[in-house]
Amino acid sequence: MATTAQEPKYNETVVKLFTLAAIFWGVVGFLVGTFIAFQLAFPELNLNEYFNFGRLRPVHTSAVIFAFGGCALLGTSFYVVQRTCRARLFGDPWLPMFVFIGYQIFILLAASGYVLGITQSREYAEPEWYTDLWLTLVWVAYLVVFMGTLIKRKEPHIYVANWFYLAFIVTIAMLHIVNNLSVPVSFFGTKSYSLFAGVQDALTQWWYGHNAVGFFLTAGFLGMMYYFVPKQIGKPVYSYRLSIIHFWALIFLYIWAGPHHLHYTALPDWAQTLGMVFSVMLWMPSWGGMINGIMTLSGAWDKLRTDPVLRFLIISLSFYGMSTFEGPLMSIKSVNALSHYTDWTIGHVHSGALGWVAFISFGAIYYLVPKLWKRERLYSLHLVNMHLWISTLGIVMYISAMWVSGIMQGLMWRAYNDYGFLTYSFAETVEQMHPYYVIRALAGVVFTSGALIMVYNVWRTLKGDLRKEAPIGAATAAKPVTA
Ligand code: HEM
Ligand code: HEM
Repeated sequence: MATTAQEPKYNETVVKLFTLAAIFWGVVGFLVGTFIAFQLAFPELNLNEYFNFGRLRPVHTSAVIFAFGGCALLGTSFYVVQRTCRARLFGDPWLPMFVFIGYQIFILLAASGYVLGITQSREYAEPEWYTDLWLTLVWVAYLVVFMGTLIKRKEPHIYVANWFYLAFIVTIAMLHIVNNLSVPVSFFGTKSYSLFAGVQDALTQWWYGHNAVGFFLTAGFLGMMYYFVPKQIGKPVYSYRLSIIHFWALIFLYIWAGPHHLHYTALPDWAQTLGMVFSVMLWMPSWGGMINGIMTLSGAWDKLRTDPVLRFLIISLSFYGMSTFEGPLMSIKSVNALSHYTDWTIGHVHSGALGWVAFISFGAIYYLVPKLWKRERLYSLHLVNMHLWISTLGIVMYISAMWVSGIMQGLMWRAYNDYGFLTYSFAETVEQMHPYYVIRALAGVVFTSGALIMVYNVWRTLKGDLRKEAPIGAATAAKPVTA
């Protein structure tokens, strides 16, 4: 990654736009998440047909995954591929700009459809055929820009972050096309029917759904991790060899694990067991990646005391480790018999989503903003630190409330008395969950407040302001032993 005096000027405009869009959509997604959390606790907030829970839930999931996460991934991938290849983006300037504008149009088409009730009812693939076709076009342009830049690279070597980004781009294209194969009812209508039916339809959907987690929420963000963690530490990645093993093991195993979403369904039993076994094996490469990231700190652990941006990155890896331990556990059929359909799943989702996906993105955004806008540093590192602890508190409140609520829910559903009758009615389980739903909604307020601090900090940085402040960790700096 060495740079020379003749380093080409990179296209930073599109990276800047994606960074700002990620911040914007992040806040929108967190606010909608918080609102739907309140709706679950207080159903009277289901205001009307357009803004009821059923329609706003996909607005939340798409806003955080595809809008916030997607813009963070597309923006950082354009930044990373240019730097590590020492080449300007392929198709510059129009093709990268088409990818940016096209992607924003996709987000708006998807969100407006949900609010109007236009949906395929496939989780994480809700948009109807016209939005899917548009996204396919944008995604192919994205692939062309990324691959084209790799091909014209001036470095002999392709840095491992690009491998992960490429796996993300190619696999998402494949998943998107296959899962959305459908026949529109009419050319001008918004309704279509899937080409698949019955259990094949369910398996295709969860092959897609699980690999949306594996390749959108994991592989892409691992690409981000492999660039920004070593950069922020100022050292090369702990083990390059481990990163290659990590890459091949992860992409080989992920693609088979989808059936763990369909335990105890009409799916053949052998397919469920196959999904479970591959999920358990996934624990190994996942932890390999986490260890590789965290161990990059070896010899420089003290930086954690003074650098809150690095704290974001390292805490994100810890949450990644936690959710990739929990996932394999939940894929074991007997554990899934308790966890499935309960809030335990929601807790698992958000330990990965908030702790890993959002935190690594915050870390990357904080790294990028002063570099892209050529500022000496961020406006305030103390505000970064404040964001870190407030949002960490929000995550802990969220996931512990969901664990307690989920396990309680599962145990209440299966409790029966000496006569073989169920002990609790469904309504009683819902009533018991109420306090945890209130805690989760408050957790959303806390987490979002942290994100708003980031918005303020970024805005002041863009304005060119610098807050006068003592270095972080100055108060706890090592003191000479006097006794
Ligand atoms: C080794 C890694 C992982 C494995 C084996 C795994 C496994 C699982 C299992 C068994 C479920 C429950 C399925 C069900 O009962 O319906 C689940 C749900 C889920 N997981 Fe993971 N997980 C892993 C990592 C992650 C990470 C890192 C994230 C987020 C960044 C994540 C996001 C999700 C989501 C969004 C769902 C809910 C899907 C839905 O039903 O809508 N998982 N996962
Ligand atoms: C302020 C922060 C957030 C709050 C308050 C929040 C709240 C919620 C709520 C209430 C649900 C519906 C749960 C249910 O149906 O029982 C949900 C679902 C979901 N959220 Fe969030 N969320 C937040 C942030 C995020 C982020 C950052 C991501 C991803 C990067 C995310 C990904 C998801 C996913 C994938 C689901 C669907 C889970 C499933 O079907 O199993 N959320 N969220």
